[in-house]
Amino acid sequence: MHKIAVLPCDGVGPEVVAEGLKVMAATELYDVKYELVEYDIGGERYLRTGEVMPDSVMEELGQCDAIYLGAVGHDEVPPGILEQGILLKLRFGFDQYVNLRPIKLYPGVATPLKDKGPEDIDFVVVRENTEGFYAGMGGQLKAGTPDEVAIQTGVYTRKGTERIIRYAFELARKRGKARQLTMVDKANVLTHGHDLWRRTFAEVGQEYPDIKQENAFVDACCMWFVKNPEWFDVVVTTNMFGDIITDLGAMIQGGMGVAASGNINPEGVSMFEPIHGSAPKYRGKNVICPVAAICAAGMMMEHLGEVAAAAAIEGAVARALASGKLGDLSTRSGVKTTEAGDLIASLVE
Ligand code: IPM
Ligand code: MN
Repeated sequence: MHKIAVLPCDGVGPEVVAEGLKVMAATELYDVKYELVEYDIGGERYLRTGEVMPDSVMEELGQCDAIYLGAVGHDEVPPGILEQGILLKLRFGFDQYVNLRPIKLYPGVATPLKDKGPEDIDFVVVRENTEGFYAGMGGQLKAGTPDEVAIQTGVYTRKGTERIIRYAFELARKRGKARQLTMVDKANVLTHGHDLWRRTFAEVGQEYPDIKQENAFVDACCMWFVKNPEWFDVVVTTNMFGDIITDLGAMIQGGMGVAASGNINPEGVSMFEPIHGSAPKYRGKNVICPVAAICAAGMMMEHLGEVAAAAAIEGAVARALASGKLGDLSTRSGVKTTEAGDLIASLVE
């Protein structure tokens, strides 16, 4: 029995999570045994009680087998409070050091890239998820005065760098596609931190002679994601760069409506979520595409070892997208969130 914590959180989170759970329920023929425990976390609770993420909830989440999260961010809460207090607290607190973000263009989905199709866009970004500029190191001096100073430091540890690079090498092997790993950095400017990344990559790379190893600067990487996405198989990068390039990645795979992610601690509690935000202005309107959240549920099933159920979800998503019945996957598609979920659930086989 898998114990799955469900955190719908803010904005459109609850709506897309409901569709993900609907599609999970439709895999019952695979006899996956799971129990859902829902938590009332997010902007509403914060506004009501002042609590962001109580220790008692963290403790209970630590007893679960996986966390399924909707989206974080509330229009009446200043930016940062919920992002740091919920999302980053979970990622850091459970040491989910891998942020796995597949960039896959499904047949039937439109990409803004001219002359590129599903055979060209199929790679995975492995984003470091616990260090870099997200570590919160630094401070402000004389804030709000003309003399103010702000310092925000990127943190890179040998341990943190090595484990994410090793994970990416293993993934390149497991995928068995081009057997290629590209490390994305800015070693030509960030000569301290990203030198550590380069040296670690070269060193760990010696253990993987079967994997082709490449370096790319992050600016050039943005160019190639657009110009030659077919060059990529597995990409490993730092936390901030991974955040940025996966929004670009989401666009080339058909939009935020389809981009899913896993925050993974291979030895601990992992968390699965769509990469889109809470989109407060669409809350309750039943217009958000739930495919990303449904794909995140599929990634969660796979992580829990339910490979057949995961494949069934992926298959249903692929068939729904290929049918053209989901429209352009935007909020203006004319397809309701619940209808999209119904369709995908009905296509599980
Ligand atoms: C993401 C989001 C988060 C991040 C925000 C909400 C803190 O943009 O998951 O990509 O920057 O990691
Ligand atoms: Mn982001």
